[in-house]
Amino acid sequence: MINNYELYNPTRLIFGENRIEELNQYLPEKARILFVYGQGSIKRNGIYNKVLNLLKGREFIEFSGIEPNPVYETLMKAVNLGRENHIDFILAVGGGSVIDGAKFISAAIPFVDDDPWKLVSDHLEIIDSIPLGTILTLPATGSEMNRGAVISNKVTGDKLALISEKLFPVFSILDISVLKSLPKRQIANGIVDAFVHVTEQYITYPIEAKLQDRFAESILLTLIEEGSKLYDNIEDIEAGSNVMFCATMALNGVISSGVPTDWSIHMIGHELTALYNVDHARSLAIILPALYSFKINEKLQKLVQFAERVWKITKGSDIEKASTAIKSTENFFKSLGIPTKLSEYDIDLDYTIKSIIEKFESRGIEYFGENGIISIKDIEDILHRAN
Ligand code: NZQ
Ligand code: ZN
Repeated sequence: MINNYELYNPTRLIFGENRIEELNQYLPEKARILFVYGQGSIKRNGIYNKVLNLLKGREFIEFSGIEPNPVYETLMKAVNLGRENHIDFILAVGGGSVIDGAKFISAAIPFVDDDPWKLVSDHLEIIDSIPLGTILTLPATGSEMNRGAVISNKVTGDKLALISEKLFPVFSILDISVLKSLPKRQIANGIVDAFVHVTEQYITYPIEAKLQDRFAESILLTLIEEGSKLYDNIEDIEAGSNVMFCATMALNGVISSGVPTDWSIHMIGHELTALYNVDHARSLAIILPALYSFKINEKLQKLVQFAERVWKITKGSDIEKASTAIKSTENFFKSLGIPTKLSEYDIDLDYTIKSIIEKFESRGIEYFGENGIISIKDIEDILHRAN
């Protein structure tokens, strides 16, 4: 049976070619804006100049240098700048990292009584935040229309989520013209990240959530079809438009309404990124095939549904169908140039296993995945399979 749920999403999505030009319609009339961005891609592809022109006559200050997998120490510099200048609106221009970083800044500026890292590490409730608008430059994380952010701390070696309704962007501009400058690696990463967001909310166990399942399957099918087209031809605007909406819909709360979710691939993947700086999506591509083969019996019914409806696999026993679907998914990732084995990275396997288990223990995690079907001891088996 479908669980009780509440679906809330206040983000205004502004989609289409050249929609950046309309930025001023969505910014508050009188605002002191903190304009934040990453490590320079927007300067190279012209988006920076476009935004500067649009901000002419407005009160704003800039903060640049938010890194991929945004780091607390860097973000605190933006927090101090924002506080000193009494900013009251944040404009984030970038991919998931810049938007996540901006979400942390938005919560941290008003949190003056203690170290804002505690909002992340101790899951403190966010009471107040500075409103945030975004211009998305990389379809991948869904951060543009959700309440989550993932922040890293170099000192503690943590990469952790910050979640609150106060973090939904007020608006997000999805201007497809920004896609043209994306390197193939980032396009592939985005497709894989969105794909795994869907499977984490879909490949659990059946509860007769017919529409949620079909929403999930439609996103997966569209990502396979249109993602491949976009990967082959970055100029394919139709494919880009479809991929962009898929990535947003994959993690904006709709497909998780009332259904069990897993998130174990992300939990382990985040640790690989924290340890070795593996790109987020690439960490997921390593873990997914290993974890699903390890838990094939527990997830069998949904894996078979995934096999039949998404990969159109009709022959064989249930186990065979499920295994073929896992293999097809792995091959799809590989077709996008994404490695799926840990051994393809320069990684010490035993150290990795030990470190991840210790991290989970230190956070009081014993079991995870839907219904706690994965114990922290299973990490060893999963990582051996992934190697
Ligand atoms: O630093 P800049 O200049 O912005 O360059 C970026 C970066 O080098 C570049 N890029 C972005 N748009 C571009 C572009 N280059 C050329 N043209 C463009 N139009 O791409 C590189 C990667 O950017 P990044 O923002 O790091 O990628 P992504 O969007 O994949 O975000 C990854 C981060 O999001 C977190 C991940 O853990 C990771 O830290 N996630 C956030 C989630 C959320 N908030 O809901 C959920 C996800 O599962 C994920 O964990
Ligand atoms: Zn992700």
